[in-house]
Order: sequence, then C-alpha cells, then structure tokens
Amino acid sequence: MKTLILNGSPRKHGDTASLLDILKSGLDGEVIQTDAYFANISPCTDCRFCRTHARCAVSDDMDILYDILPDCDNIVIASPIYFSELTGRLLDVCSRLQYYYNSRFFRGDKLPFKPKKGAVILVGGGDGSGERAAETARCLLSHLAVKEFHPPVLSHNTNRLPAVDDTAAADGVKSISLFLNGSA
Ligand SMILES: Cc1cc2nc3c(=O)[nH]c(=O)nc-3n(C[C@H](O)[C@H](O)[C@H](O)COP(=O)(O)O)c2cc1C
Repeated sequence: MKTLILNGSPRKHGDTASLLDILKSGLDGEVIQTDAYFANISPCTDCRFCRTHARCAVSDDMDILYDILPDCDNIVIASPIYFSELTGRLLDVCSRLQYYYNSRFFRGDKLPFKPKKGAVILVGGGDGSGERAAETARCLLSHLAVKEFHPPVLSHNTNRLPAVDDTAAADGVKSISLFLNGSA
C-alpha cells in the first residue's frame, strides 16, 4: 500500500505536522510526503504546452508526484486553513494537476489512474469555518481518482488548543489511518 501526503503547512513542528505524525504512526505500507513550502515545485502558468504534448513543460520536483500519483493507493491532503482556504503554496502545487485535465480534455489521453481512498486533515486558529478548504480538497482528490472518502478531520481551535492536544482531532486522524489501511 502506498500513501501520498500533500502537506500545506510551512511549520515543520506545527499543528498540521503533529496530526500527520499521528497519521503516519498508524499507516501501513509506504508513505511519501510532499511539503508544499519546501518542495521545488513551481505553479502552473497555463502555458498550455500539455495541451499538445504528453508532459509538463516545467521539470522540477513535480516529476516525482507525476510518477507516484497514478498508482498510489491513498492520497491525504493536510493543511492549515488560511483565509478559509488551503494554503497558497499547496494550491500552487495542486495547480500543476492541470496537466491531467489538459491531457484528457485536449489530447484525449485516458491516463489510467488506480482508484484511490482519500482523506483531508485541516487545522485552523478558530476563525470562520473549514468548509471551503474541505470542499477544495475534496474537489482536488476527486480529480485524482479518489473514489472513497473519509470525512474531513478538522482541529479548529489551535489559537487556544494546539492540535496535538485536540483529542477529537487525534481520534479522527487515527480513524483515517484505519480507513486507509482497509481495517475500518
Ligand atoms: C495567513 C494566515 C491566514 C489564516 N487564516 C485562518 C482562517 O481563515 N481561519 C482559521 O481558523 N485560522 C486561520 N489561520 C491560522 C492557522 O490556520 C493556524 O495558526 C494553524 O493552526 C496553523 O497550522 P500549522 O501550525 O500546521 O501551520 C491563518 C494563519 C495565517 C498565517
């Protein structure tokens, strides 16, 4: 079993990271994590090269994700909420998924993707809601052949209670591990 984690937090020991530690300690198989703030992945500029070519014009760390994405079993999107959304850097990385859309729409490339399970982990200080970020994450996962979703797990009071001390969120993340492992 192979699980890809897309992490949108810039904080290496922050709230998202603490929940990801819990997730990873319960996950079977291989886990590959991309940290959007530290990966060498530039945003899509809609150059449209992939409308006519079977590759992205930009060669960077996204090549690693292009290799993993079709065949991995699980994808987890984990992010702080910034202005009610996923973080900008995570959206930058995810903008490169436009390659798949253009491949299908303009070149008729079927791009066989293994059906996957998916999950979303969000943290926030406590402003607004996580609904928009969760919806964006779900939309992205749907484009990546995620067919089975765990309900989003949200720790949304981190200004007062660090996510690591949020027992409901920790239980939610453990439930994600079981779901992805196929034991729940
Ligand atoms: C630019 C910015 C925007 C933010 N917007 C929100 C928000 O809309 N809602 C919210 O609850 N928290 C918001 N926060 C707070 C973070 O989501 C919160 O501190 C989170 O726990 C950080 O997670 P991390 O430690 O994993 O990076 C914002 C923080 C920053 C820096």
